[in-house]
Amino acid sequence: MKFSVVLLGVLPGILSVVLSGSALAQNDNVTRGEYLARLGNCVACHTVEGGAPFAGGLKMHVPGLGNIYSTNITPDPDTGIGGYSLQDFDNAMRLGVAKDGHHLYPAMPYPSYAKITSDDMQALYDYFMQAVAPVRQPNRANEIPAPQNARWPLAVWNALQLDEDRFQPEPTRSESWNRGAYLVQGLGHCGACHTPRGWMMQELGTDESSPAFLSGAQLDHWYASSLNGDPNSGLGRWSQADIVAFLKTGKNRFGKAFGTMVEVVNNSTAHMTDADLNAMAEYLKSLPALNEMGVTEYQYDPASTETLLRFDFSAAGAQEYYQNCMHCHGADGIGQAAYIPPLAGNPVLMDPDPASLINITLNGSLRVVLHGQPEPYDMPAYRLLLDDQQTAAVVTYIRTAWGNLGTPVTAAAVATIRAATDTAADDVVVLRMK
Ligand code: HEC
Ligand code: HEC
Ligand code: HEC
Repeated sequence: MKFSVVLLGVLPGILSVVLSGSALAQNDNVTRGEYLARLGNCVACHTVEGGAPFAGGLKMHVPGLGNIYSTNITPDPDTGIGGYSLQDFDNAMRLGVAKDGHHLYPAMPYPSYAKITSDDMQALYDYFMQAVAPVRQPNRANEIPAPQNARWPLAVWNALQLDEDRFQPEPTRSESWNRGAYLVQGLGHCGACHTPRGWMMQELGTDESSPAFLSGAQLDHWYASSLNGDPNSGLGRWSQADIVAFLKTGKNRFGKAFGTMVEVVNNSTAHMTDADLNAMAEYLKSLPALNEMGVTEYQYDPASTETLLRFDFSAAGAQEYYQNCMHCHGADGIGQAAYIPPLAGNPVLMDPDPASLINITLNGSLRVVLHGQPEPYDMPAYRLLLDDQQTAAVVTYIRTAWGNLGTPVTAAAVATIRAATDTAADDVVVLRMK
């Protein structure tokens, strides 16, 4: 008995002597590549619900053009990227050029992945070639009418918009700040959703030198909030630990992940090491306040709670809130810790653009899944219960109650999002990778 325990203890040592050093290094690279694929959230776009991991086929809408489908990136030689050399892979990942020379749409976030280091690219390549199961599945044709389906304008786009430089560390900053900057700007491609876009659909900033970087943007009818230091709608009141908790568990004392951020948490940030989460949080906390400089910082105001409890519904939307929302989010707007997020003081309530609030009220949200377990409580969908006017009123109410500094919402804004989101989105997002 004792003997076998001792033997088990030394077995890994014996094995590592037996295995050649290079084979081990190879395995290390594959393991690291798998982690990097998590950081890059490749699975979210390259996998359809119920489909084989990385076999592609996810429909993505390109505004003004039509629909494109993500491609098969398993190492199948005929339908996937099995014939790609490391250089071909790097060209697709960083320059948006496929092996046969055609240009990719920037729906593939190559403008962010351009920052990936050559070591990390090698590890990603090793992972895809050696550890991902090849799947024979031809790519679906895109649905873009001629002549817009010509890909040559993408080459012009690249010439004008693409910064091909890999990440350049900032020598005056700490190692962890630089690690965070690398992950946020590069593999994490946080700017793909959180940075506003210009008329050519280019992100209006790819690092902290631009004030537009991560300053908040709407994509797919969800508004990805500002991640800069703005005290009310940004992360100014969040500590580094608050940011880490949000990315790791999908929730913290300010709110809960919802909308497209749920896919990011479920497939990517929940799997990151604490060191990497802290590095990203350190970097985000270094972004200055931008639009709310000198603005009064949010202060909780209990007046709305008292009015609600007196059955005084004179404020627009107060009655709708009382009837539909109060049993979960509370008369005090504080929710139920860990399960039902607060609405009072939650930065998303004070976003300049209310798209996310309208969308979640009409359609509910995907659930956060941690360690394979979906969250028990869910935000219900109200699209059949509340009309545009009532929805606008209740969203206006939560944006302005308890001291929240949001602006009113119109019924027209609700009608637009209702029309654009005609299917309720309350499926459970499963972890697609393994
Ligand atoms: C936000 C969605 C999104 C994410 C995240 C994403 N991709 Fe893509 N990718 C796409 C789309 C869409 C295409 C096809 C674009 C086209 O056909 O113009 C594509 C194309 C590619 C191609 C070109 C393959 C070919 O021959 O068609 C490769 C390689 C690739 N992606 C690898 C990756 C890897 C590796 C990751 C993770 C580090 C990743 N992608 C993350 C959307 C995404
Ligand atoms: C059954 C309980 C329940 C009811 C009723 C409810 N919510 Fe929610 N709400 C949630 C949960 C849980 C979340 C967190 C997101 C998720 O997990 O779906 C949430 C999230 C939200 C959010 C996003 C805040 C964040 O940080 O996640 C807003 C805004 C919101 N609810 C508004 C409303 C409004 C407006 C109503 C009434 C029309 C309402 N809720 C009714 C449970 C509820
Ligand atoms: C696919 C789009 C998308 C990507 C990519 C994305 N986010 Fe988000 N994010 C959102 C949306 C939408 C929200 C607003 C809903 C919410 O609060 O969950 C959000 C909210 C957040 C919040 C909470 C902000 C607040 O004020 O409550 C943080 C923090 C955050 N994201 C960090 C990140 C980081 C870090 C990355 C990159 C690793 C990232 N996001 C990538 C869509 C995205």
